[in-house]
Amino acid sequence: MRMKAAILFEQGRPRPYAETRPLVVEEVELEGPGPGEILIEVAAAGLCHSDLSAIEGIRPRPLPIVIGHEGAGIVREVGAGVTGLRPGDHVITVFVASCGECRYCVRGRPNICASGFAARSAGTLLSGARRIRRLDGTPVNHGSGLSLFAQYAVVHRRSAVKIDPSVPLEDAAIFGCAVMTGAGAVFNTAGLRPGENIAVVGLGGVGMNALFAAVAAGAERIVAVDTNPEKLGLARQWGATDTFLATDPDCARKVREATEGGLDTVIETAGSIPAMQLAAAITARGGSTISAGLPDAKATFSYLHAELVTDERSLRGSYMGSCVAERDIPRFLGLYKRGKLPVERLRSGFLGLEEINAGFDRLAEGSVLRQILRPNA
Ligand SMILES: NC(=O)c1ccc[n+]([C@@H]2O[C@H](COP(=O)([O-])OP(=O)(O)OC[C@H]3O[C@@H](n4cnc5c(N)ncnc54)[C@H](O)[C@@H]3O)[C@@H](O)[C@H]2O)c1
Ligand SMILES: [Zn+2]
Ligand SMILES: [Zn+2]
Repeated sequence: MRMKAAILFEQGRPRPYAETRPLVVEEVELEGPGPGEILIEVAAAGLCHSDLSAIEGIRPRPLPIVIGHEGAGIVREVGAGVTGLRPGDHVITVFVASCGECRYCVRGRPNICASGFAARSAGTLLSGARRIRRLDGTPVNHGSGLSLFAQYAVVHRRSAVKIDPSVPLEDAAIFGCAVMTGAGAVFNTAGLRPGENIAVVGLGGVGMNALFAAVAAGAERIVAVDTNPEKLGLARQWGATDTFLATDPDCARKVREATEGGLDTVIETAGSIPAMQLAAAITARGGSTISAGLPDAKATFSYLHAELVTDERSLRGSYMGSCVAERDIPRFLGLYKRGKLPVERLRSGFLGLEEINAGFDRLAEGSVLRQILRPNA
């Protein structure tokens, strides 16, 4: 079938993107779903900082590619052998397709599936196929096994989780990345319990979901840190007990002083080395620093080895919030329905495919939380 998609041909173009247009909206050909795959009409797709990193080029991607990995839509067709989904079902997409068979999947960690990772690096679906072609026949790579900056997407069955159709799809979309990553880091990776304390460093779409989850988990003290004072104001309204400006050179000392030695759990959701250093510096003795941010693929940060040992600190990564999507999406939607994961507060407006480059300018400026693309509106 023919559809419109936003194709990234070249990484690293300078801003403003509204002028340099790294994403080019083109008519393309989308093949129907193969065995084990489904065709989704994309209703809503969020603009995540990881998409911005792909445009900036700090995380290499096979080109040309259709990115977009946070979304929700309606199943329009199912391929051979697909069970549990049929046309008309509403789904949230999952940005790691998992094989169910590799050593990580069998240990209950499909978010780090080896086959999913290999397919993503190759720019294919889990089957190894590419279903998008330019009109001259050139194949186009898939981003995260999804390619949601398009009107339709063919994805692996396990890249979608069926949801209750009463959930507005523009809210459902945000669960596909920001909620799983932010709330999952708190509930799954950190396993935060009532009465504990936590800091969130970086209050974008991901960090604000970590904040909502910390409030929902019953954390006693919730410290929120960002470079943007407006985000600190929102964090206070939304349940942070203390806020600190990361641009203050004395920030780490102030947090440690206010919290008598730092926080037991610190989640970094900015994706920058200074944010990671700050997160480590405000973690208490015996505490955990958990990073969900994704900086430049080659960036490293320094850490005092001896202190890791003498203070019994721990340092962890959190990918897709350590989620098992089929288990956690329904759980998180339950919290949303009770007002405890109010993702609708994170919506910073809607846009069409033609406005997508300007949307990434706004995300890069840091002035928005989640902008929602509606490619069929
Ligand atoms: N681990 C995962 O599975 C996963 C999934 C999605 C996104 N990510 C990554 O998470 C990060 C956040 O994504 P997002 O969409 O929420 O981004 P965003 O741009 O919406 O938010 C980032 C926030 O960090 C703040 N910030 C920047 N530098 C900072 C610093 N030094 N100290 C404190 N705050 C700082 C910004 O002001 C902004 O509010 C990105 O790096 C993204 O690639 C990871
Ligand atoms: Zn994302
Ligand atoms: Zn696997």
